[in-house]
Amino acid sequence: MTGAVLEGRDLARFYTVKRGAFKPEATVKALNGVSFSLQSGRTLAVVGESGCGKSTLARLVTMIEDPTAGELLIDGKPARVGDRNLRSAVQIVFQNPYGSLNPRQKVGSILEEPLKINTDDDAATRRRKAEDMMARVGLRPEHYDRYPHMFSGGQRQRIAIARALMLQPKVLVLDEPVSALDLSIQAQVLNLLMDLQKEMNLAYLFISHGLSVVRHIADDVMVMYLGRPVETGTAEEVFTRPRHPYTAALLSATPIADPEREKNRIRLQGELPSPLNPPTGCHFNPRCWRAQEHCRQVTPELSGEATHKFACHFPLD
Ligand SMILES: Nc1ncnc2c1ncn2[C@@H]1O[C@H](COP(=O)(O)OP(=O)(O)OP(=O)(O)O)[C@@H](O)[C@H]1O
Ligand SMILES: [Mg+2]
Repeated sequence: MTGAVLEGRDLARFYTVKRGAFKPEATVKALNGVSFSLQSGRTLAVVGESGCGKSTLARLVTMIEDPTAGELLIDGKPARVGDRNLRSAVQIVFQNPYGSLNPRQKVGSILEEPLKINTDDDAATRRRKAEDMMARVGLRPEHYDRYPHMFSGGQRQRIAIARALMLQPKVLVLDEPVSALDLSIQAQVLNLLMDLQKEMNLAYLFISHGLSVVRHIADDVMVMYLGRPVETGTAEEVFTRPRHPYTAALLSATPIADPEREKNRIRLQGELPSPLNPPTGCHFNPRCWRAQEHCRQVTPELSGEATHKFACHFPLD
């Protein structure tokens, strides 16, 4: 793939975990067989329930951890932990705007810290850049001398976004950036992100529990289940014609006002299985209303066209 600013090739990340003194160690396949390609100015949404591997993928992409297998390319170059040159190209914004900002630092110093560590900018230049970024994210000049606790959740997320942009990254990883915010504030922050993306030609890897949050922001979607992608494609394809039953169930879980559609809602049966001991065959089979014996035996591969792939033996029409 040419021109991708971020590319994953068959990425896997396994963890060895102890299960108690007398039990053998087990392997959690937190991520397995994940491939994607992201261009500048575009948004890839990674969607799935708790434990499907979203944050693990974020740790690989931000070079906090190396993959167990597969390859990560940033701007076309192989990326490994410790590679300082590539590291600033990918920045992350976390879900919790309360925990991610140092309460003892003023906004100005929070924003200038990445410059202090990574550039030779003098104090005046750092201040100018910080003030410029504050304006871009909708913070006022007088906020420069305030502490994080003086801000609302939405404003704190603006500060976190500003900090992530200080080193002019090419890629922003957004790990559930609005799920801790009120609905009305969510829309404001999403709009800000879309404006910044246009202005700065940023690529977004947008991580989300649900599909509804990413409906307007995503260009492409990857739906994950227990560490594996089960459906990938353009947002258009995935939203209008989901082929994997799990995607259909996630879409169906989106709140809707229409009582007719409410009646036809798909309700997922059963619990999410333990990733330590995933079901054989298709991992989704115990919760799938279309599952047959074949699904319990054989793991389906992701297949289809570049614009839409799914891993299902009996896909929806
Ligand atoms: N360092 C680790 N050691 C052992 N297991 C881990 C480690 N990190 C993640 N896991 C396991 O890998 C799986 C994926 O975890 P991950 O945090 O990536 O999920 P997630 O999709 O981000 O979930 P959530 O929506 O709850 O944030 C989980 O089963 C988790 O318990
Ligand atoms: Mg997570």
